[in-house]
Amino acid sequence: MNNKKLVFSGVQPTGNLHLGNYLGALKNFVSLQKEMECIYCVVDLHAITVFQKPSELYNNVLETTASFLATGLNPDKSIIFNQSSVSGHSELAWILNCVSRIGWLNRMTQFKDKAGSDKEKASVGLYIYPNLMAADILLYKATHVPVGADQKQHLELSRDIAQKFNNDFDCKNFFPLPEPLIPKNISRVMSLRDATKKMSKSEESDYSRINLKDSADEINRKIRKAKSDSQQIPDNIKLLENKPEALNLLNIYSEISKNKLEAVVLEMAGKEYSFLKTKLAEILIEEITPIGKELQKLLKDKSYLKTILQKGSEKASIIAEENLKNIRDKVGLI
Ligand code: AMP
Ligand code: TRP
Repeated sequence: MNNKKLVFSGVQPTGNLHLGNYLGALKNFVSLQKEMECIYCVVDLHAITVFQKPSELYNNVLETTASFLATGLNPDKSIIFNQSSVSGHSELAWILNCVSRIGWLNRMTQFKDKAGSDKEKASVGLYIYPNLMAADILLYKATHVPVGADQKQHLELSRDIAQKFNNDFDCKNFFPLPEPLIPKNISRVMSLRDATKKMSKSEESDYSRINLKDSADEINRKIRKAKSDSQQIPDNIKLLENKPEALNLLNIYSEISKNKLEAVVLEMAGKEYSFLKTKLAEILIEEITPIGKELQKLLKDKSYLKTILQKGSEKASIIAEENLKNIRDKVGLI
């Protein structure tokens, strides 16, 4: 068996990237590129499982690419490309649609959340979305997949699909079983307005999230308005169990300041949440606004961004084509 480690991950081009994407995924992408070969994909085919206005999709693909670069991904080190430019993703997705089971897909909680109460009206694409995600990963025989905690179930499905393919076609170890790399401390950044929900691009209120593009003023305002707690900060994490908003702010502070949550709580014990908010806004501004500025600069040169994607897809296609040849062969396609 080939023991080569390879990282693959994808981000949907559906609008503003936010602090959840940054702490749950992008920051990890950047540190992994120092250790392993990495492929990072703007997953436009996943985005269209829910209708996207064509002109918006086009701009969002470029903006997500710019966000990759602005957070520190280096196109000379990592392969950066958009999914639809390598047709192997769709081809392998079809093959895997025939390996994956309806019963498996019926368990996917993201589909249940996204499809809402009227599942009959959801696109077929949204339903089989996790099979396409498995295809993304397996097309490159990726071994490690950095994602936020919300993608854990999809990754488990990718492993099941890989395993069933290896069994069905009698090729043990053909597909490596991809391992999720989920941040330990903060795998799920929650909404600033309602910490029972994750921070997301789709929540209506912009006050629910810190976007990578936000100015210092916006970050200040959003953190000041974030829900917290009327009591003082306690000296023990256990006392925060029923206070998800307060815990979320402390968690973000701990992650950005690179201090353990226990230490942060001790440092802040007895203080009002306004004290935490002032400090949190300060370090967020320091970390996020340089990324936002770089992002705005990159967005001015769309042809540069397109060149990055094109070069990336040329590199990705070489790996994909080679693997697809073997996959077709295993399945018996001529
Ligand atoms: P998406 O924007 O849904 O394509 O997500 C891109 C990456 O960001 C995935 O790895 C997600 O797991 C991660 N992610 C999205 N929202 C959050 C969040 N609120 N907290 C942590 N990670 C997140
Ligand atoms: N489903 C992921 C999300 O919404 C995005 C994604 C698509 C992905 N293909 C992937 C992530 C492959 C990791 C690996 O966040």
